[in-house]
Amino acid sequence: MSAPIHHTFGPHVDRRYLGSTLALSYLPWRYVRGKASYELKEALRTTFNAEPTLFASGRQGLLALLKALDVRPGHEIIVQGYTCVVVPNAIHAAGAVPVYADIDRETLNLTKESVEACLTPRTKAVICQHTFGIPAPVRELRELCTKHGIALIEDMAHVIADNRGSEGIGMHGDYLLLSFGRDKAISGIEGGAILSRNPETSRKLKEMERTALRRTWWEVARLLEYPTRMHSIVRPLSGTILFKPALWIMNRLGLIAPVLTIAEKQGAMSPLLWKMPNVCAALALREFKRLATINDRRRTLTDFFLRFGEEHDWPILKGITPGLALQKFPLFVHDAEKKRQLLKKENIHLDDGWTGCVICPVTCNLNNAGYQWGSDPEAEKASEQILSLPTHPTMTMAQALKLAKKIDALFL
Ligand SMILES: Cc1ncc(COP(=O)(O)O)c(C=O)c1O
Repeated sequence: MSAPIHHTFGPHVDRRYLGSTLALSYLPWRYVRGKASYELKEALRTTFNAEPTLFASGRQGLLALLKALDVRPGHEIIVQGYTCVVVPNAIHAAGAVPVYADIDRETLNLTKESVEACLTPRTKAVICQHTFGIPAPVRELRELCTKHGIALIEDMAHVIADNRGSEGIGMHGDYLLLSFGRDKAISGIEGGAILSRNPETSRKLKEMERTALRRTWWEVARLLEYPTRMHSIVRPLSGTILFKPALWIMNRLGLIAPVLTIAEKQGAMSPLLWKMPNVCAALALREFKRLATINDRRRTLTDFFLRFGEEHDWPILKGITPGLALQKFPLFVHDAEKKRQLLKKENIHLDDGWTGCVICPVTCNLNNAGYQWGSDPEAEKASEQILSLPTHPTMTMAQALKLAKKIDALFL
């Protein structure tokens, strides 16, 4: 069976990543505490010219930020339709209400007009998500937020800009949200950061970071097994009859921590904040130092799909332009789910959790997320038709070519 084409089977886990994990696993006294967190923060501070704080995930960072912004019951936070459930969960956990603004189908992002339509005197902040690495109209949103005296939070979970082709990502927000989750722009297996450009908010965030809880040594040791499990069990077994039972057993034994818990899918978020483990910060730092290389790989794959798609009349989103380091390459197709099922038979796994739902994944509870069906028609249409192609660092050009040909055949 050929190697799987996938979004989620350890997209960052190549030999180098495994080597880093192995090297770090020989330093067990540095799993929980150590200097790496300070070094990662130093690197982030210099790059983004903003004050960083680290937490165990991006969602916890967002909760901490909303608390630091003194968000209270009755406040509203504008967020786009077509987002991950953890974003509204954090807003609810902070006591506020998520207000969903529709997206531009060609960018999968907020627009100035859709945000303007949602503004009220209760609006406290706008969260602008650069979906899959497609730049949101962040300059226009900056102007709007300044005019109305509200905070602009740039959600960079899907993309960390380097100095090439990033179209202002990370430059205009009062606050930046980064995720170092295992499928994100760069991976520390888990972790997240808030970068603040407001000294008073930074002070409050630092206090929350200082008092956040520490994961136990065993929890961190288990996290460190994730790359090996993906590389040595999940990928080799994918496409075989052992795949499903192996995943089931690993889930039952807690050998792979879920990206989302059942409670999170139901709209709940624990109010507790956790520190990013030192070893995760060390891994994230190694990746951050290679950001341009990682993004170059994504740019090469994005440009390849873009060129192939243009030559073969694919329905390319207008927001995708050459030089973008996409986290994945979205297309709109008829019967997207049927196509994914067909491809799965050939060991091509394109279900990334961002399909068939406005608040992702499809198994989450829309009512609890505060989303009213029909309120964001563009987001709803887009989520039903979307089919995304992987552009992660372990995707090879041979796989990209194979996938492009298969997709092309499916359009016929
Ligand atoms: C758009 C978006 N923002 C924020 C997050 C939160 O990141 P994390 O998984 O680190 O909590 C995610 C992912 O879950 C996401 O997709």
